[in-house]
Amino acid sequence: MAQATNGSGPAPTEEELSRARLRLVVRGPVAHVTISRPDRRNAMTGRTWTTLARIGQTLPEDVRIVVIDGDGDIFSAGIDLGMFSPEGVDGERSMVAGLADGTASDAEVRDYIAGLQEGFLWLRRPDLVTVAAVRGHAIGAGFQLALSCDLRILADDAQLCMKEPALGLVPDLTGTKPLVDIVGVNRAIEICLTARRVGAQEARDLGLAELVVPADELSAAVDDVVAALLATDRAAATATKALLQQAAGNTLQRQAEAERAAQAARLAALARASVDGSR
Ligand code: ACO
Repeated sequence: MAQATNGSGPAPTEEELSRARLRLVVRGPVAHVTISRPDRRNAMTGRTWTTLARIGQTLPEDVRIVVIDGDGDIFSAGIDLGMFSPEGVDGERSMVAGLADGTASDAEVRDYIAGLQEGFLWLRRPDLVTVAAVRGHAIGAGFQLALSCDLRILADDAQLCMKEPALGLVPDLTGTKPLVDIVGVNRAIEICLTARRVGAQEARDLGLAELVVPADELSAAVDDVVAALLATDRAAATATKALLQQAAGNTLQRQAEAERAAQAARLAALARASVDGSR
């Protein structure tokens, strides 16, 4: 259910979540987001992603872990293909609105996509650890959503597919960077340009899955990982994630400097806590 806000506007109502085909359950430090549209294989629309962005903006401050999964035996069949029709889906803006007759400008299309990307970008926040729990297919936008999470726990029936190039598109929902970071540019080219399905075992071999488990053990495996993550001090976890996120883009010197700065802040916080605790 929707919970209190952290001061960034109202959280999505139950009705808004339902229209976006999402369920949200927040229990203490763990938020569970489920893509819920089983009759369409959990296909997602623009509203799914703008609502996802609002979930991120309005999570209660004590939430540390976000788990994303799909209803039933599939993570997501990606974008609702109706989004590419001129009429769009359920009154939502079509992805191609105004492009045939030239009434939509290039800048408008880019702005629209930027709004959709917000639904994916927040999953990298250092104060959260985000976990994708993937059963069955994660296609296109579904794969990119899983790639936006810090950890991917896959059922052994999971299949990942970057379908966009096969549809004449590019992957544009922030998935290309994590894909290349994880598998390297050459394998990423092969996976995207063949649009083939990557099975769970191969995904683990490529580093696209942290863990692969039998499908009926997925939920328990996620619970175990969440419990282990919660056992770590939040401030240390946040500082460490921030440090790790910048490592690939830093020189060794710059990263060593970042480690010193982060550790000085941690040591100061621990020292203050120790003094406060002994009072
Ligand atoms: N958009 C809209 N409807 C969809 C989508 C989708 N992405 N995926 C499935 N559906 C619908 C089907 O049309 C079908 O509807 P119907 O019952 O009215 O005929 C229903 O969901 C069930 O789909 P099936 O294909 O029968 O389910 P199956 O389990 O056999 O296959 C699979 C699942 C593999 C996911 C298949 O549906 C599929 O390939 N879907 C399209 C995937 C796709 O191309 N996504 C876009 C990628 S690009 C991007 O995300 C940006």
